[in-house]
Amino acid sequence: MRVLGIETSCDETGVAVYDSAQGLLGHALSSQIDLHAQYGGVVPELASRDHVRKLIPLIKTLLEESHLKPNDINGVAYTAGPGLIGALLVGAAVGRSLAWAWQVPALGVHHMEGHLLAAQLEQPAPTFPFLALLVSGGHTQLVQVAAVGQYTVLGESVDDAAGEAFDKTAKLLGLGYPGGPALARLAEHGNPNTFNFPRPMTQRPGLDFSFSGLKTCVLTTWRKQDHNEQTRADIARAFEDAVIDTLAIKCRRALRQTGLKSLVVAGGVGANQRLRTCLAQLADDEGVAVYYPRPIFCTDNGAMIAYAGTLRLAVGQSEPLAFGARPRWPMNELN
Ligand code: KG4
Ligand code: ZN
Repeated sequence: MRVLGIETSCDETGVAVYDSAQGLLGHALSSQIDLHAQYGGVVPELASRDHVRKLIPLIKTLLEESHLKPNDINGVAYTAGPGLIGALLVGAAVGRSLAWAWQVPALGVHHMEGHLLAAQLEQPAPTFPFLALLVSGGHTQLVQVAAVGQYTVLGESVDDAAGEAFDKTAKLLGLGYPGGPALARLAEHGNPNTFNFPRPMTQRPGLDFSFSGLKTCVLTTWRKQDHNEQTRADIARAFEDAVIDTLAIKCRRALRQTGLKSLVVAGGVGANQRLRTCLAQLADDEGVAVYYPRPIFCTDNGAMIAYAGTLRLAVGQSEPLAFGARPRWPMNELN
């Protein structure tokens, strides 16, 4: 069974074909970074228009390069939410139409389910059950995953997502968009002992996160300092340490609370090298295995949608002809 996956929820146009027997047959990505960089963040209308321009040519190229014909495709999966409504509707309209034209089932996939399952594209692949730390630009969640579609959100951010905190702090420090990778690069030159930011919500019980106070803390510190290169790097380092430490403390707590022996990390912030190093140490201490998708499958991509679509198709799921998109879509509703 072969599924074409389409991802257009935000600022990447991603497509891929996943084969349930052979694995990933091909994937392609068109990033909109250059388009949004001059505005310092994603401009939703520009994102939608770029998806309109790029999506169909990208699918054509992918099929050609993977030596596949429409006849070889048994289903079309597209991200149906959460995300930017205009951007989502482009993928949903194209995906649903292709499925109709090719007379195969269409599957509306939850974007975070895609992230959550992305580590299964790698070898060795995590097996159920596992604990997932989802850290993206829009979400920070700890999810207990019993099986496909059986998700219990154990904790989540009550305000900014981890990636959003990275992006906002990067902007404050005068770094471009997207801020996360730029801030991580700057932090490499920072002294970890110059500043010390709080680890929010780690003193009280529970698995929720809060990152907006940390951003304010950075702002206050930044205002009090000389704005030289070393200070910027030191602040970046202290901020990165605070976020990573907070995520690690909550992961450890969730692993102990659930007794789960596998930790899966996914979403854009999962590409952060120092987070990976820190969680590898934690996994070692706790005697659990930790899994990540390769960095390009941590951020938004078509492969994770094709894969989630394949699993959903295998259990007989498909969409009616009328399609829609859900900018907000709680993951608990997938069960
Ligand atoms: O999963 P993703 O591509 O999109 C959403 O679904 O939101 O995640 C994007 C987020 C952005 O906030 C970006 O700054 C952050 O992931 N990010 C990083 C790194 N690479 C991407 N944050 C920290 N360190 C990185 N290396
Ligand atoms: Zn994402």
